[in-house]
This record gives sequence, C-alpha cells and structure tokens, in this order.
Amino acid sequence: MCPPAHFQVTYSINPWMDPAKPVDVPLAVAQWEELRDRYRALGHTVDLLDPRPGLPDMVFAANGATVVDGRVLGARFAHPERELEAVAHLEWFRGRGYAQVHEPVHVNEGEGDFAVTASYLLAGRGFRASPLSHGEAQEVFGRPVIGLDLVDPRFYHLDTALAVLDDAADEVMYYPGAFSAGSRAVLRRMFPGALVVDEADAVAFGLNAVSDGLHVLLPQAAVGLFGPLRQRGFVPVGMDLGELLKGGGSVKCCTLELRGL
Ligand code: ARG
Repeated sequence: MCPPAHFQVTYSINPWMDPAKPVDVPLAVAQWEELRDRYRALGHTVDLLDPRPGLPDMVFAANGATVVDGRVLGARFAHPERELEAVAHLEWFRGRGYAQVHEPVHVNEGEGDFAVTASYLLAGRGFRASPLSHGEAQEVFGRPVIGLDLVDPRFYHLDTALAVLDDAADEVMYYPGAFSAGSRAVLRRMFPGALVVDEADAVAFGLNAVSDGLHVLLPQAAVGLFGPLRQRGFVPVGMDLGELLKGGGSVKCCTLELRGL
C-alpha cells in the first residue's frame, strides 16, 4: 500500500475524476489508515511504498505491478501522468530482493486489469491494458490468460467490475453490464456459480474489493452485497474510502497483493 500523502485530482483520466472537486487530503489519509489497520487487525502483513510528490494517483498501488508465485510483472501506464509510478514499483521489488522482475513491453496497469484465480489469470482490456499485455502476462506467469472486454467507461479497469472471492475455489463476483456480450458469455461459462452484482452496487464500487478467502473488504456503500456475501460464508467488512473515490478507486485499487511462491 502507498499512503495518499500526495493524493489530488489534478487531471481526469476516468469518468470519476473531476479536478474541480476539492480533495480533503487529511480525510483521505485517515480513511486509508483505517484500511491499512484493518488488514493488520485481520493478521495480514502490510508493506508500504513511499509516496512521491507529483504522482497524485500513487495511492492506487494495485496498478503498479502484478505478483504471482513470487514473480513480478511491472506496469506500463496508459497515461503519461502515471508513468513514473511504474519505476517506483520496480525499484521497490528489486530492493526487496524479488529475483524475477519483468519490465513490460506492453501497456498493463497491474492488478487494475489482472485478477488471479486458482486456475487462471483474468485480464481486462478496452480502456487501459493493451490486449498484447495478455500474452506477455501468460508468458511471465505460465498461467492461462482469459481476456475480457470492458465496454462501460465507468468500469475502466477489470477490478472495478469483477472481484475474486476465493482464489482457491475460482469463486468470483462481477457486474455483467461492464462486459461485452461475448465476455459475459465467457464469464457465465467459467463461473456458473458466480455472485452476479447489480448496477447500484457496482457504481458504489462494491466490486473493488479484496478477499482473503474469508473476509471481504469492500466499500460500505455497496449495501446490496453484504447479505449475499454472508450467505456464501464470507464475512463482509465495510470500509469508507469516499475521498479516494474522487480519484476513481477504492479498497482493491489501494491494495497490491504480494502472492508468494
Ligand atoms: N485515478 C486512477 C486512474 O484512473 C485510479 C486508479 C484506480 N485503480 C484501480 N485499480 N482501478 O488510473
């Protein structure tokens, strides 16, 4: 995670960002600290990346890399405003002694568009990641990549439209309206038991969630998801990251998962 010390909305690269709306940085920091502390209270280790001035979106750490089996695929951002974040992430992973760190050739924004299940790497495309990044990720991780076409600009990253609930059991939740007809058919075929989410909960960023297989941390405004998650045996944990939503991100965007060997 990366503290939102320099968080601002100074440019607009997704429909949620309005530079005319003021951002309350101390509030953003307090909300982010609640998320960090919640992970720690649940027994998870949280490593921190130093925020850098001039990179207002750096709090969205999930976009900086993808880590599976201890292998790291760095990011290459679609917009120049975020370009330098990729460098900070690569330096962090190299400094931590990760042996396999790949600098990407094609545009990919880390876990923004890559989601890891037991068997697959799900990969979004349409707004940010290049379709060519899918082949690159398949080569790096040796996992079959399933490409999914995003068609609604409000859900510009896969992690705004789909969340992995249980990566051991290939259990996911998603909002069908974010995907093309063909990709919806793929999702139905692959995940017939998925939790299908409606537009209201998707717009509340309910799919921008992180699950440890039991606890699901998600925006508390996605009220329609708490009951269905409990019915499936999960423990939903509602968070308020309202300030960060002004940048177009929430729980998952703030969290890069370090998947070891
Ligand atoms: N303002 C950032 C952008 O548009 C938000 C990124 C949110 N991160 C995410 N994983 N969806 O790039």
